[in-house]
Amino acid sequence: MSGDNPDFKTREIRAGVSPDPVTGAILTPIYQTTTYVQESVDQYLEKGYSYSRSGNPTVAALEAKITALEGGAGSLCFATGMAATSCTLVGMLSTGEHAVLSDVVYGGTHRVSTKVLNRWGLECSFVDTSDPANVEAAIRDNTRLIFTESPANPTLKLTDIAAISEIAQAKGIPHVVDNTFLTPYYQRPLELGADISLHSTTKFMEGHNISVGGSITARDPDHLERIMFVRNCLGSNMTPMVAFYTLQGIKTMSTRLEAQSANALKVAKFLETHPNVDRVCYPGLESFPQKELADRQASGHGSMLWFEVHGGVESGKQLMNTLKLWSLAENLGSVESLVTHSVTMTHADMPREERLAAGITDGLVRLSTGLESADDLIADLKQALDGLH
Ligand SMILES: Cc1ncc(COP(=O)(O)O)c(C=O)c1O
Repeated sequence: MSGDNPDFKTREIRAGVSPDPVTGAILTPIYQTTTYVQESVDQYLEKGYSYSRSGNPTVAALEAKITALEGGAGSLCFATGMAATSCTLVGMLSTGEHAVLSDVVYGGTHRVSTKVLNRWGLECSFVDTSDPANVEAAIRDNTRLIFTESPANPTLKLTDIAAISEIAQAKGIPHVVDNTFLTPYYQRPLELGADISLHSTTKFMEGHNISVGGSITARDPDHLERIMFVRNCLGSNMTPMVAFYTLQGIKTMSTRLEAQSANALKVAKFLETHPNVDRVCYPGLESFPQKELADRQASGHGSMLWFEVHGGVESGKQLMNTLKLWSLAENLGSVESLVTHSVTMTHADMPREERLAAGITDGLVRLSTGLESADDLIADLKQALDGLH
């Protein structure tokens, strides 16, 4: 801790929470309540709470902690990461307005934009945001939001957050970054010039496969107001139980990330040597196509990687069915190591041509490296890869 400016690891554990004033309990209690009794009509909202759809003290403690880690004016927590994304899009855009999004985004972000919000007249352009010129070219007179995801799920394509933020600022368009893959420990979009940093807290923040949740952190109080209004109207807030789990998980986020990233690098290096692997993609490898950007805008490489198994879809399926320690499961960022086949799982709804153009190939196997022993994780991958026909 350096004086009044504690380090990230200190804030991660201490920020946003203080011992319960009544009992001294060191953990913020789970305020499991629908409503809050007001002292009198004149003192309505004096203690800050009226009804748990609008606000809850356990959720507020988590929001304060996330703000202490991301920076910005404040944070809001949501029922899921998709609730965070949907409320942000609805809060920031109106009918007839346009948004520019990364061509590679989480499948659900693509789905809500193209299959739900389009019905209310929101227009979305998906462009390769790894080249800032594409973003500049896609901006129209009615563009009111730029939404990028970096590293992107699942290809790990990076967007230069500072470069896009500069373009966005020059045009007065807010820039939202989905920061789920790296967390504020490794990457802080607001410090790079973005306006809103968004998370699926389901992933590294909570980290233990217990709960789904989401968050946003904004630099502009007006953006927070707009998104909070929509969260309340749509009823998309986080529950106090989930906030409690996430408050505990986040305390070890940086420690988990360091260990999981070290495991991911070992796994990536092993995969590079295996004859049944055609390509490995991990930002910590020298072969990563955007290595310079990866090192410039983030202080770590994370635990996500992917590889192209030799033999395409069939080999991919066989591989996933023969892995024993890696769980075939649709999440990421947890202490358990997980494997997914993006094409048949997370990005199943994306049209094939669009998917291939975005680099999500048929044989892409995505790994979320957990905290188990790297030797055991590698041994499991080896037996499955060795056994491929
Ligand atoms: C990058 C990214 N953003 C957002 C989401 C959506 O989060 P949730 O599943 O918590 O709704 C996900 C889910 O996998 C994701 O990977």
